[in-house]
Amino acid sequence: MTNRGNFSGRIGFILAAAGSAVGLGNIWRFPYLAGENGGAIFLLVYLGCILLLCYPVMVGEISIGRAANSDAYGSYSKLGGKKWGYLGLFGIIAGIMILSFYNVVAGWAFGYFLHISFGDLLNEQDFGGFFGSFVNDILNVSSVHGLASSNLIFSLVFMMLTAVIVTRGIQKGIEASNRIMMPTLYIILIGIILYSLSLPNAFSGVRFYLIPDFSELKIQTVVDGLKQAFFSLSLGMGGLITYGSYLSKKENITSSAMVISAADTSVAFFAGLMVFPLVHFLAFKLHIDPTEIGTSGPPLIFVVLPQIFHEMGPVLGRIIGGSFFLLVCFAALTSTISLLEVPVAYLVDQKKYNRKHVVWVMALIIFICGIPSMMSQGMVAALNNLTFYKGQDFLTFISDMSDICLTIGGCLMSIFISRRWGIKNMDTELAQGNDRYMTSGVRKYLHVTINWIAPILLGSLSIVIILEKFFGIENLI
Ligand code: TRP
Repeated sequence: MTNRGNFSGRIGFILAAAGSAVGLGNIWRFPYLAGENGGAIFLLVYLGCILLLCYPVMVGEISIGRAANSDAYGSYSKLGGKKWGYLGLFGIIAGIMILSFYNVVAGWAFGYFLHISFGDLLNEQDFGGFFGSFVNDILNVSSVHGLASSNLIFSLVFMMLTAVIVTRGIQKGIEASNRIMMPTLYIILIGIILYSLSLPNAFSGVRFYLIPDFSELKIQTVVDGLKQAFFSLSLGMGGLITYGSYLSKKENITSSAMVISAADTSVAFFAGLMVFPLVHFLAFKLHIDPTEIGTSGPPLIFVVLPQIFHEMGPVLGRIIGGSFFLLVCFAALTSTISLLEVPVAYLVDQKKYNRKHVVWVMALIIFICGIPSMMSQGMVAALNNLTFYKGQDFLTFISDMSDICLTIGGCLMSIFISRRWGIKNMDTELAQGNDRYMTSGVRKYLHVTINWIAPILLGSLSIVIILEKFFGIENLI
């Protein structure tokens, strides 16, 4: 081994990879996508995508990284030649794009955490109006609810926290921080679920979430489920190639990937179990139908949930609301560090730059790339209303483009394994750390999925996603 750094063992790797997976995707995006797509049926589709497509892609990525012991670019070019290196670069660029807008939303969550815990945000009457002005004025340094409120500063601080952790390296930075944040996150999550299940009308929310209505199954559900599953498991852009490259040959990849997928899926599932009872409780309190509460879209956790915390009263609201946004910040931070590590690993491995310098320079560049997303929420009309993109805002545009990159990345990765590197070489890699792999059913399953199912389904769904994004799905069928 070179001195690139490595995880201390199985648990460290699993926590870090699960930390990468568990993020805003699970807590911010999954519940509102589930709400928009019929609740339980979305959950089923999502699980199907994980079993059929995401698990094999995850195993593939980790084995590429461990076999090559290099960053995303270095791994593809080492195992497949320089041309395939471009696939690694494509992933690195996708990662930079994701981190640029992701850090903006993480900054909002951080701002909300401060506003609820230490300010008097919960006295607000109009949470929708507050969110609108909060995201609109990114430089607002005047005091709002007893605190200075500037998105620019919130997201800058968030990026700096990310950078501080990544400069400390794999074991002392990434692994050590995940060892603290991941267990805390689970504890807070379970605490809030137990509380929300105890509220009046909670079980009506649980029913909506868990009893599938098959008439809701549409092609849109499948497309949203797949995009969400890829994003949530951090697949398709070389994140897990990078983490895999720090994994020892003694560890069992197939079983670790199962634990990582299960950890991520359980957090998404639990996030829904936390949110829907709260929404149905609010409906009960306000004497309205749950469908009248706008659970769709990004405002769910920034508008609807604060309103619910407000209903809980000043003390409890602050405790539950503050813990909720702390949970969101932890989830986001364990993901931003994994996103920043991808370009950093590339520059350290390939260009031999000093890790500390690279981290700070990259963090600054990506922070600056995020500014248009930050300004696209109302501050700059042209960014809020992109003429070439159905009048949507720039943040949505970048987020949609990265979704496309991920499924294409996953499709090309499976083609890389089956047609270039060779599935036999993947087998050899997977057999290290897993004595029974060669005769196992998992091997057969991986062969079928990586040789055929993943390239075909991911290829065709990527095309559907591109057409849907630019032309609208209603026009496709
Ligand atoms: N999976 C994270 C989430 O759900 C986001 C994330 C971190 C990610 N690293 C990634 C997404 C790499 C795609 C690729 O919030």
